[in-house]
Amino acid sequence: MRTLRFHEYGDPAQVLRLEEAAAPEPGPGQIRVAVEACGLTPADWALCGGLFAGELPRGIGLEVAGTVDALGAGVSGVAAGDPVFGPAPFRGPTAGAAELAVLDVWFARPAGLGPAQAAGLPMAVETAYRGLADLGVTAGTTLLVSGAGTTVGFAAVQIAIGLGARVIATAGPTYAGDLRDRGAEVTGYGEGLADRVTAIAGGPVDVVLDLAPAGTALPELVRTVAAPTDVLTQSDLAGAGRYGVRVSAGAIRDDVLGEYAELAAAGRFSVPIAGVHPLDEWRAALYRSRSGQAHGKLVLQIG
Ligand SMILES: NC(=O)c1ccc[n+]([C@@H]2O[C@H](COP(=O)([O-])OP(=O)(O)OC[C@H]3O[C@@H](n4cnc5c(N)ncnc54)[C@H](OP(=O)(O)O)[C@@H]3O)[C@@H](O)[C@H]2O)c1
Repeated sequence: MRTLRFHEYGDPAQVLRLEEAAAPEPGPGQIRVAVEACGLTPADWALCGGLFAGELPRGIGLEVAGTVDALGAGVSGVAAGDPVFGPAPFRGPTAGAAELAVLDVWFARPAGLGPAQAAGLPMAVETAYRGLADLGVTAGTTLLVSGAGTTVGFAAVQIAIGLGARVIATAGPTYAGDLRDRGAEVTGYGEGLADRVTAIAGGPVDVVLDLAPAGTALPELVRTVAAPTDVLTQSDLAGAGRYGVRVSAGAIRDDVLGEYAELAAAGRFSVPIAGVHPLDEWRAALYRSRSGQAHGKLVLQIG
């Protein structure tokens, strides 16, 4: 089968290779999926750079949609050919950016939810939901989502509004209108952010979820809250200690993916898709993602 993977750590443009590899075999409790679409995330490039380093080669691609191809021992409730999606394990010699991928966790892909849309859900939804849960966001919370034009931030806005929170969001022009349509009060990021947010909120916000690029937002964000620990960053892990803000400590929340897939299929939730690239054109997706201005999820079309 064809797969995108690396044999040494380094810049993804240098170390990633599209090549033939042995098909992965589903172990007990796993399924194997014929991959139709694979979502790409900044984490893929970090894996190439040595994040969670281990035995090489390793694959990239942490979220997939496809159809069930084979079942591991003990798996029931799903059959060959069923449309599914889910997060792809990334510690093996191949991962989600491959014609076949094994999954530990999967959900039925509802009718009406295409493979690209489904493949774009797991990372954005899980990260957003976990961050909001860590912050204790609930009905009545006034929340600032910093970097709501990122895929995680766009998901977080919708999830928080669904929980009954008041959501203020910073975003560029691409998705500002869509975020307003979903109920957020939107302002730009950059200089003066704290003053603009405080004016909109009428005082400090209760909590902040930060997805803005590392090094860009924390000095302003700590001025929007009563205490720095009211800010949780999922992007600036190095800056967190310097500014006294929190990082996510909660358990992985893949359990909510099925619920948001149903909402997406019903047109009541979305993660924007910036582009769908054939597997052969993975470099174009890489460059768009690494530009920092992807403006949505980049998806590889496979199979
Ligand atoms: N800790 C975790 O578990 C975890 C998991 C997944 C992701 N993450 C992190 O979460 C962050 C978001 O990930 P993602 O994949 O959703 O990112 P992404 O969609 O690739 O982010 C790109 C977007 O960032 C926005 N942006 C650019 N400069 C900005 C600035 N100065 N301030 C605010 N927004 C800016 C742009 O949107 P607009 O200009 O159109 O607004 C751009 O389209 C990343 O830092 C990623 O590493 C963490």
